[in-house]
Amino acid sequence: MIVPTRTLFEHAYGNYAVGAYNINNLEQTMGLFKGCIDSQAPFIIQISKGARAYTDKKMLEAIIRTADEIFPDALFAVHLDHGDEQTCYDCIASGFYSSVMIDASHDPFDENAAITKRVVDAAHAKGLSVEAELGMLGGVEEDIQVDEKNAMLTDPDEAYEFVKLSGCDSLACAIGTSHGAYKFAGSQGIHMERVAEIQKRLPKFPLVMHGSSSVPQDEVARINAAGGDLKGAKGVDVAQYLPAAKLGVCKVNIDTDGRLVWTRVHREFFRDKPSEFDLRPPGKIFIAEYAKFIESRNGYLGSAGQLAGAREHALKSGSPVLA
Ligand code: G3H
Ligand code: 13P
Ligand code: ZN
Repeated sequence: MIVPTRTLFEHAYGNYAVGAYNINNLEQTMGLFKGCIDSQAPFIIQISKGARAYTDKKMLEAIIRTADEIFPDALFAVHLDHGDEQTCYDCIASGFYSSVMIDASHDPFDENAAITKRVVDAAHAKGLSVEAELGMLGGVEEDIQVDEKNAMLTDPDEAYEFVKLSGCDSLACAIGTSHGAYKFAGSQGIHMERVAEIQKRLPKFPLVMHGSSSVPQDEVARINAAGGDLKGAKGVDVAQYLPAAKLGVCKVNIDTDGRLVWTRVHREFFRDKPSEFDLRPPGKIFIAEYAKFIESRNGYLGSAGQLAGAREHALKSGSPVLA
């Protein structure tokens, strides 16, 4: 059942985080649904602009609708990841999405707030919620000055002002993470003290953590042993997911880790079976391995075991996007 993103946040706030996983194809979708049912977790499906363009945006919608039929107990929201203004309007008009992200974080503060406000007005008119982004998402290197580090992170006072001006429903904050497989050069991690300060300025307001892949070192080693070349790849410590959730982080975005599982499975498969050319055997292994991965992440996020409670809350608090 597709539900509004806000109902998932209402249930999770302060207790656990909902995993937001990107999909591009049917193998990822099958693994994601299986892993979330196996761990009894609500979840968020994220669709990026690149994913919409990979085949056709209608293809992903059809895959998700079908997965919803195959897994009738699944409870999830469908979310546009890193949208521009026009793509947000397209998703709002489609009637299929629970929420959109407008990413105008590279624009100046006032412009970001104004664009976000326009998207919020359009989304709220159709019952969708809006995630916005404030701050510079990026690895905060160990050797840069403290002042410089702080300038890259989301400023709590600005976050408060931005939410007031734009009317957004959740906020992606720069708290030390970055996208991709190379997040930290040394021992840095999530700036938990900054999350706490933002929560103080925005109590009960859902925060979002992008760039949350953990880049498992055993996965990287297996990829490299099977012909890959990922040197110095490093991610977020999964032990930090739950402390962040307790500070108001309701949504944790994970994409890169799924790509690493895909790369490991396919590299090992074709290394070990050089005469093989059927796509289905490695595809089946990937679906099972991705489901296991999702199950483990939902455990770290605290969303595992929350499905029944989240469903009860969703049914009490309003109509589903797609029942
Ligand atoms: O934040 C970006 C996500 O990992 C989606 O990546 O734009 O390559 O689909 P993509
Ligand atoms: P990762 O690259 O850490 O998986 O982050 C994904 C993300 O933030 C999608 O919006
Ligand atoms: Zn992101």
